[in-house]
Amino acid sequence: MRQHSAAAGDAAGSPGPAQAPGRPAALRGLAVAALLAARDRTTLLTTAVDDADLVKQHSPLMSPLVWDLAHIANQEELWLLRRVGGRDAMHPQIDPLYDAFEHPRAKRPALPLLAPAEARAYGHEVRGRVLDLIDRLRVTDRGAVTGFGADLAGSGAGFALGMVAQHEAQHDETMLATHQLRSGPAVLSAPLPPGAIPADAAALPAEVYLPGGPFTMGTSAEPWALDNERPAHQVEVPGFWLDTVPVSNAAYAQFIADGGYDDQRLWTADGWAHRQRAGLTAPLFWEWDGGWTRTVFGVREAVVPDEPVVHVCWYEADAYARWAGRRLPAEAEWEKAARFDPATGRSRRYPWGDEEWTPARANLGQRHLRPARAGAYPDGAAPSGARQLQGDVWEWTSSDFRPYPGFTAWPYKEYSEVFFGPEYKVLRGGAFGVSPVACRSTFRNWDYPIRRQIFAGFRTARTAAEADPERA
Ligand SMILES: [Fe+2]
Repeated sequence: MRQHSAAAGDAAGSPGPAQAPGRPAALRGLAVAALLAARDRTTLLTTAVDDADLVKQHSPLMSPLVWDLAHIANQEELWLLRRVGGRDAMHPQIDPLYDAFEHPRAKRPALPLLAPAEARAYGHEVRGRVLDLIDRLRVTDRGAVTGFGADLAGSGAGFALGMVAQHEAQHDETMLATHQLRSGPAVLSAPLPPGAIPADAAALPAEVYLPGGPFTMGTSAEPWALDNERPAHQVEVPGFWLDTVPVSNAAYAQFIADGGYDDQRLWTADGWAHRQRAGLTAPLFWEWDGGWTRTVFGVREAVVPDEPVVHVCWYEADAYARWAGRRLPAEAEWEKAARFDPATGRSRRYPWGDEEWTPARANLGQRHLRPARAGAYPDGAAPSGARQLQGDVWEWTSSDFRPYPGFTAWPYKEYSEVFFGPEYKVLRGGAFGVSPVACRSTFRNWDYPIRRQIFAGFRTARTAAEADPERA
């Protein structure tokens, strides 16, 4: 869902040793780089189709691409030029059109939206003014920026830069999902992810073990962490086993072949009702043609057996896990598997450590328009040995979206707080369509359990039996 939408390992709120992104100059540079990278992607996604396509609604689940385009600019103007920079609104009359809470996606095509050329010009104008503003900001040691906007000064204009960069990157992911839903010939292309599974992948254990004990969940130190990731807090997690890699298409096809969609015992009551009502029989975009095929950004292809399954809803993931004699991991289990370093007792920023993402560590940033094969990215492995916890596919967890102890809504309630409750399930890890700026091991995504247009897969877990190998 993530409507709107860095410092160190967390030790219950105290900064750890790796402070690189918290240095003022580094933070400013990272923010500018993230803003520019997001705009490059926005431009690509909105110039790949013609104007008629931009104003069309490809699915009631999605906005017309031209709405995203102007909404990105409007939010950037609102947060950086007005709130941080203290400037007057450029076009106050259009604000309501681009307020995500005023108009549900299905209603947006009927609004008097800016035309494509107007939306592009608005975005260009805002960005030019923002870059001028950033040049004049004074960044403090705490990663904040002072001198502009009383309510953000001292506690978060540096955050505002990161928040706006993350916001545009998140809309780039949303727009990529719109591209996947649009019909017509393919307009996007990208190099394939690492094609060969690493030599050691065949020898990977099916699951990894995480010993029981406390770990630090969430963060109080990441400068661009959103309110729902905060604060860092201790969580006791009993020992459990987790799939080393996400569930593959081949494994999921076995679930289908074994009658998983027809066996009510595998589904929750709500899940079974939805499966019946929606007529679910396979992941979204799959079709049977003597073998499973699927459409990927306008191209029909045979399903690749060893890629992680994607475009399944929470109910399908949950039923698969039950069929496999397992369960979905809780959110705390997922985060412990991704962050906990038993050698130091600290929680890392990422599975591979505290250093920033590189292309060798995870499939992020729309560099590839599909998940890499299960077992890829050994350089991104967690201490537990689990792979691909960041990138490739979002991973459904068993957890409802809830606030952490000590949660404070910021910068406004509609960011996260209004979504807390049992109707949303948490997803973790980020997919190939997610920007590195909006992907860290504390990041929490959430969506309805029926949603399938998002780039979501899953992995499964099981509680450690009494014959816990670490405790025997
Ligand atoms: Fe937004």
